[in-house]
Amino acid sequence: MASIAEADIAFTTVPHPAPVSDEVRAQVLANPGFGTSFTDHMVTIEWTEGKGWHDAVIGPRQPIALDPAASVLHYAQEIFEGLKAYKQADGAIALFRPEANAARFNRSAERLAMPALPEATFIEAIEKLVALDKAWIPEGEGASLYLRPFMIATEAFLGVRPAKNYKFIVIASPAGNYFKSGAPAVSIWVSEYTRAAPGGTGAAKCGGNYAASLVPQGEAIARGHDQVVFLDAAEHKWIEELGGMNLFYVFDDGRVLTPALTGTILPGITRDSLITLLREEGLTLEEGRYSLDQWRDDAASGKLVETFACGTAAVVTPVGKVAGQQGEFTIGSGGPGQLTGKIKNRLVAIQRGEAPDTHGWIRKIG
Ligand code: PLP
Ligand code: COI
Repeated sequence: MASIAEADIAFTTVPHPAPVSDEVRAQVLANPGFGTSFTDHMVTIEWTEGKGWHDAVIGPRQPIALDPAASVLHYAQEIFEGLKAYKQADGAIALFRPEANAARFNRSAERLAMPALPEATFIEAIEKLVALDKAWIPEGEGASLYLRPFMIATEAFLGVRPAKNYKFIVIASPAGNYFKSGAPAVSIWVSEYTRAAPGGTGAAKCGGNYAASLVPQGEAIARGHDQVVFLDAAEHKWIEELGGMNLFYVFDDGRVLTPALTGTILPGITRDSLITLLREEGLTLEEGRYSLDQWRDDAASGKLVETFACGTAAVVTPVGKVAGQQGEFTIGSGGPGQLTGKIKNRLVAIQRGEAPDTHGWIRKIG
């Protein structure tokens, strides 16, 4: 296996012979939505047992050929990441904490029995793609270029064991708001399904976790909610996270609580950043567990004043309403809370270069 330190992989650039016209791109960028449009290029890097990572290419975005027996198609040996490139206040382009994504990618790779990718190569691949496709970064509030690095097992083999060939790919997608509804606060549905069990893959960012969340997420949508929230597998009592976001609870005494990373929750990079920013605000930040019953009681008594969800795609999103088999309850006024708005603004200001980057979270490109 390639060692994480090995990072001297040379990239070949093949510019797209017929990129999207300025006019069509401008139309896309005027209203990017989330995850529906893509830039002209992509990165691919191959991994072969005994050889390591090789053939790094930044070329035209195009379909990939896979043998129908490729292991990813049968046993879901796949992992991914999500991060964003921002147009900053001074016109520079910046990534937010890509080192953290690179590290999490390798933790996911380890859990899925996949080879580690040198962190420097992960970051270089992203930087090169963003630099080449920089005309695709949308401007304006909430707009960014969403980057999706992922790795798939490509070996044609139907036996159940780690594959001997992999492909690392990065694609880029201009992004606006994640939630279509545009509502000031989202409504979430407490699922009876389980997302992750102790010893499972909940802390890894692997496609299988998201495949398993589609039915519960569909149920949430069918009932008129925006997102699904999952409880723990063992007791079905403790709140874990949403389908694609971590949660924070704000109390009337200035305490803020977020579920602890017990191995069944994705360790969000936004979550980690907000913990730092909330502590800087002088708040008491606790990582622990919180039950659905307590959540309902505290919302009713007014002890709990705000709840917000966070993630790269969703940034910081207030939760206004929670519904489940036992009925529903409203948090605070049902709209965005004060601290939620304040902490979102602080995070976004750093990402946009409008506030000083005192934590070394910003990595400028070019
Ligand atoms: N939890 C899940 C299940 C996610 O898919 C995501 C999104 O990546 C998050 C939490 C938030 O993680 P991050 O802040 O690193 O985007
Ligand atoms: C992200 O926030 O980057 C994610 O991967 C979450 C996904 C639901 C879009």
